[in-house]
Amino acid sequence: MKKYFVTGSYGQIGMDLIPAMLERYGKENVVATGRKKINPTFKELDVIYHRLDVRDEYGLRNLLVEYDIDIILHNASVLSATGEKNPQLAHSINFEGFYNVLEASRELNIEQLFVPSSIAAFGPTTPLVNTPNTTIMEPSSIYGISKVYIELMGSYYNKKYGLNFRSLRYPGVLSPEEPGGGTTDYAIWIFYEALKNMKYTCFLSADVTLPMMMMSDCLKSTFDLIEADDSKLKHRSFNVTGMSFNPEELANEINKYLPDFKIDYEPDFRDALARSWPQSLDDSVAREEWGWEPELPFEKMVPAMLDGVSERLGISYK
Ligand code: SER
Repeated sequence: MKKYFVTGSYGQIGMDLIPAMLERYGKENVVATGRKKINPTFKELDVIYHRLDVRDEYGLRNLLVEYDIDIILHNASVLSATGEKNPQLAHSINFEGFYNVLEASRELNIEQLFVPSSIAAFGPTTPLVNTPNTTIMEPSSIYGISKVYIELMGSYYNKKYGLNFRSLRYPGVLSPEEPGGGTTDYAIWIFYEALKNMKYTCFLSADVTLPMMMMSDCLKSTFDLIEADDSKLKHRSFNVTGMSFNPEELANEINKYLPDFKIDYEPDFRDALARSWPQSLDDSVAREEWGWEPELPFEKMVPAMLDGVSERLGISYK
């Protein structure tokens, strides 16, 4: 059995990814790391956890050697909205932190390095409808620029050193877990506010359409790609998507379950970011090369989110 190492484990994705990895690969084969103290969920699951700041090059290498790691999932990142508030922090974590992981992977002959990319890697000059896998990438956020850097460096190390680098351009990822610092996060907070207050003030305009996927599909795409046969891969970074909608369409769908729910709009700086991102993604390259197929459509996502968030809040809505 291979040994897996995850950074940024207590982020929105990590909180679902780690339990799924324990089930799939066995508790003894997964090492979770993050900057914070171990959280109660991981403690309960008896996760092997170490505090690690990815900017700590030596701390990182020591753990990779100690556990004889084969595969790294480098999830630690400052997201788009936090990055715009603190570009220097985003630079040190997203660029320098990634570089430490990349170099350690090369020097220690790590079998595979997986790093998420994002729809934020695209920008205003990209064709924003049905965005192809290979297209113009001139992002306007520090977060987006870091994702283009990660994709290009990963691909460069693949060609130059044979590093088995793989990346997925995640759209907005939806789960009942509280997200942190992203722009697509509105599509999670809307469920919290709908269930608590029957009202949500959205920081994006009504008509800003973005690609999204449910966490179950995010995990499926991640496992499918990291387990894909290398000989099938012609690309290193892949578009993946599950659905596309705008805040108004989401509010209308929520109204089918909560008829009294109301939304209003106070767009802020995140509106411009979201408008520079694709409205929909063409993920045919992922479908062709490693058989990607999403499972959860928009109509099923809404009740799944209502169930999940109401359970977390201890509120019944039915
Ligand atoms: N979900 C991310 C964000 O909004 C995009 O990858 O920052």
